[in-house]
Amino acid sequence: MGVCGYLFLPWKCLVVVSLRLLFLVPTGVPVRSGDATFPKAMDNVTVRQGESATLRCTIDNRVTRVAWLNRSTILYAGNDKWCLDPRVVLLSNTQTQYSIEIQNVDVYDEGPYTCSVQTDNHPKTSRVHLIVQVSPKIVEISSDISINEGNNVSLTCIATGRPEPTVTWRHISPKAVGFVSEDEYLEIQGITREQSGDYECSASNDVAAPVVRRVKVTVNYPPYISEAKGTGVPVGQTGTLQCEASAVPSAEFQWYKDDKRLVEGKKGVKVENRPFLSKLIFLNVSEHDYGNYTCVASNKLGHTNASITLFELSEPTSSTLLQEVKTTALTPGKGPGAISEVSNGTSRRAGCVWLLPLLVLVLHLLLKF
Ligand SMILES: *[C@@H]1O[C@H](CO)[C@@H](O)[C@H](O)[C@H]1NC(C)=O
Ligand SMILES: *[C@@H]1O[C@H](CO)[C@@H](O)[C@H](O)[C@H]1NC(C)=O
Ligand SMILES: *[C@@H]1O[C@H](CO)[C@@H](O)[C@H](O)[C@H]1NC(C)=O
Ligand SMILES: *[C@@H]1O[C@H](CO)[C@@H](O)[C@H](O)[C@H]1NC(C)=O
Ligand SMILES: *[C@@H]1O[C@H](CO)[C@@H](O)[C@H](O)[C@H]1NC(C)=O
Ligand SMILES: *[C@@H]1O[C@H](CO)[C@@H](O)[C@H](O)[C@H]1NC(C)=O
Ligand SMILES: *[C@@H]1O[C@H](CO)[C@@H](O)[C@H](O)[C@H]1NC(C)=O
Repeated sequence: MGVCGYLFLPWKCLVVVSLRLLFLVPTGVPVRSGDATFPKAMDNVTVRQGESATLRCTIDNRVTRVAWLNRSTILYAGNDKWCLDPRVVLLSNTQTQYSIEIQNVDVYDEGPYTCSVQTDNHPKTSRVHLIVQVSPKIVEISSDISINEGNNVSLTCIATGRPEPTVTWRHISPKAVGFVSEDEYLEIQGITREQSGDYECSASNDVAAPVVRRVKVTVNYPPYISEAKGTGVPVGQTGTLQCEASAVPSAEFQWYKDDKRLVEGKKGVKVENRPFLSKLIFLNVSEHDYGNYTCVASNKLGHTNASITLFELSEPTSSTLLQEVKTTALTPGKGPGAISEVSNGTSRRAGCVWLLPLLVLVLHLLLKF
């Protein structure tokens, strides 16, 4: 704050000072703003917080007294500093120019400054407005949130700056959706899993680059089995049943055969679990392994299941290639195939396309008899 010098000056000094002040700012004469003729102060001065502001006043040699005032407080009168604020310094006091500098400007320095001169015993003033700009800053933002699908979500982003920054919200990942709100508040009613991801709050004014902050919104939902793939395997080979489920938090998997839970570690059977996938692997398939299996996926919000069949391949000499082709051929509708088949495995068969017509024909014949 500008603590002004005259408060601390000795009494004698104060009298002199007051007299001088009378010359410069006569009581009853209001400070006129924007005196078009003389003295000539500059246009309004705009600076950023922390920078220095130069206040210039153009004068001529008829001028006998000069001063710069902050509102009604004298900062400098001639070469004398009246103000204790160390940020205020005299830049020049010549026959043509009287300038001061305010260093490390802050928002409270904003306001009218007056250049006051005395010419031929007439006081004149000229006013300049110091305008202080402040970069945008996000002062309050919602924390990351984890919420169940269907609930209402409300995010807040409060920013400061001069001029007042514009605040927007965007949904940026996993897919860049774009603007979802043009102000500080983002309200989502009945949030869906597609609306999960990162939201970015941006605060901008013309002073500096926009500032951005991110909030992660996690939408929880019960498991949904997207792929449950059956497979045909001849006796003595390795067979794998696969169950894929999306869920947040990620699903836990369990396998059943005819209502009996398969415990991991059973001889010849291995379970491989990953966050979105479970594999039931038969290392050496035997007759009694064939049948219907149930994959159960669960998280704290619920559970679901899918039935998957491990079936016998009648062609004992079959290779994995044949196995795949047969699985595919059997998939549409009938046959003991998978309940849901999402992947069509095009890429894996790509190299053997020429074999297909022949094999399908052979299989067709085999199935008929
Ligand atoms: C100008 O006056 C205001 C209000 O009294 C004060 O807060 C500010 O510190 C002053 N600035 C300077 C540079 O004197
Ligand atoms: C200077 O700033 C003041 C206050 O913001 C405003 O009223 C005035 O019009 C401005 N003058 C110029 C020349 O921009
Ligand atoms: C979500 O907001 C709407 C509208 O304000 C309200 O009717 C509904 O009950 C809210 N839902 C929940 C789960 O709070
Ligand atoms: C698979 O099991 C059969 C019968 O139990 C056995 O004869 C065969 O050696 C096993 N094969 C392998 C690779 O372990
Ligand atoms: C296996 O499941 C399918 C589909 O649910 C059903 O049609 C078939 O009869 C079941 N097979 C056995 C052996 O349980
Ligand atoms: C699979 O889901 C059905 C229908 O929700 C349910 O009746 C059945 O008990 C479930 N099976 C298992 C093994 O959880
Ligand atoms: C399945 O095949 C179709 C047509 O060949 C292709 O456009 C699609 O991308 C494939 N889907 C998958 C999951 O491989």
